[in-house]
Formats: sequence, C-alpha cells, structure tokens
Amino acid sequence: MKRVRTWVDMVSDSSRVVVAASENVTVWSTPRSLARGVKMSSPFTIRPFDPTSERELNHLCVFSMMTLWESRPELRVDPDSIQDFGFEAHRKLYIAGAAQPNAKCLIALDSEAKIVGHSVVVVRHQDSQPYGYFWSRYVVPQHRRQGLARTFLKEALRFFQSQSAAWAEVHVHVENTPLRRLFESEGFSVADRRTDRWTYLVLRKDLV
Ligand SMILES: CC(C)(COP(=O)(O)OP(=O)(O)OC[C@H]1O[C@@H](n2cnc3c(N)ncnc32)[C@H](O)[C@@H]1OP(=O)(O)O)[C@@H](O)C(=O)NCCC(=O)NCCS
Repeated sequence: MKRVRTWVDMVSDSSRVVVAASENVTVWSTPRSLARGVKMSSPFTIRPFDPTSERELNHLCVFSMMTLWESRPELRVDPDSIQDFGFEAHRKLYIAGAAQPNAKCLIALDSEAKIVGHSVVVVRHQDSQPYGYFWSRYVVPQHRRQGLARTFLKEALRFFQSQSAAWAEVHVHVENTPLRRLFESEGFSVADRRTDRWTYLVLRKDLV
C-alpha cells in the first residue's frame, strides 16, 4: 500500500522527474515534448510476460495503475481508495489472467532489457460469439511515438484471429484522443458512447 501512495505522490508532484514506483520498479516520466522524436538505437523485444517473475509482475501492476492515472482523470485520487484499482487488485488479476488461455499479456523490453510497455488482451463471448477485447496498455513516456502501441495492437489482432474472434473491441476514454487515433488508423470505428464510472467510446473492427 505504501508503494501505491509513493507512486501517486510522485506522479502528481512532477511530470519531469524520475518516478520511483516501488522498490522493484522504476518508471521514468519525461515531458511529452522530450519524449517525441527520440529514436531507439536498437529494436524492442515483445514477448509474453513471465508470471513467475516478481519483477515483471510488479511492472505490470504499476503500468496498469499508470494507465489509469494517465487515461482516467476521474481516478486521480488515491487508488487505494478504489477497491478494484489498487496494486494488490492488479496483482491478483495478472496472476489469474496468466493461467487463462483466452488472455494474452505482452511486455516490451528495450535493448537493456528494461520493461518499457505492456498490453493485455482477452477473448470474450457475446451471444456465444468470440470477440477480442483490449484491456490495458501502457508505454513509458520516453519510448512513445515509436510505434510500440501499434505493434502491440497488431500482435493482439493476430491473437484474436487465431482464436476465431468475429470482431475486436476497445473502450477508449472520451478524452483519450491519442489512443482513439491509433485505433481509427488501424480500421476501428466508433460503435457506441457510454457513461459508467467515466464516459468512453466503444470502437470496433470486424475481423471476419
Ligand atoms: C496511448 C499510448 C499507449 C500510445 O503508445 P505509443 O507507443 O506512443 O503509440 P504509437 O507510437 O504506436 O502511436 C500509434 C499512433 O497513435 C496515435 N498517437 C499516439 N500518441 C499520440 C499523441 N500523443 N498524440 C496524437 N496521436 C498519438 C498516432 O496516430 C500514432 O501514429 P503516428 O505516430 O504514426 O502518428 C501511450 O501514449 C500511453 O501509454 N499513454 C498513457 C496510457 C494510456 O492512455 N493507455 C491507454 C488507455 S487503456
């Protein structure tokens, strides 16, 4: 719990300093303007995460919480106060998800084997029809706009097709224009607008 509070305090404190998220995980936060235009000197490695690795598990939990922090302004409160969004809740979800054949959790590593992004997708059913659902994704600021989220998306679409998914679906916060642009540029279109804990758009792409 202390780790979470540290993360919240540090993120809200500054957008340009190193954010020490826990004893085991460090997330770097730099201004978006600096993040843009940075070229990687070597390619990323993308692979399924190893659920036996505490380091990888901790990164996923922190990345998921960073995703919520950045993409859901409504949640910019202490995540411990929201039952299903705290560190332990994420940890349980990832451990359970790793055992599910219908879910895929990918991580991206840079040339120094630092974990720099993640993506979680799952095949769900509606009226007995399988469809692919995008659950969470995060790219550390200094590696953004280098195509990592697009690469995760293409991997996810391949997975959905291998599972005979009829369509792919994602819920995008109404204010998350960057994410919406990414999905629209890959053939997704807005199918619905809903309000629950926040207002989001449902984007879909037919796969058959
Ligand atoms: C959204 C996010 C995952 C994008 O990751 P990324 O690796 O930088 O994305 P990509 O480099 O693959 O960009 C793909 C496309 O998305 C769009 N895009 C991404 N970031 C953008 C930005 N800041 N402004 C405008 N468009 C943007 C562009 O269309 C881009 O294509 P282009 O670079 O050819 O113009 C990343 O910004 C992030 O982690 N944000 C915080 C967490 C979050 O919002 N997660 C999603 C909610 S679940």
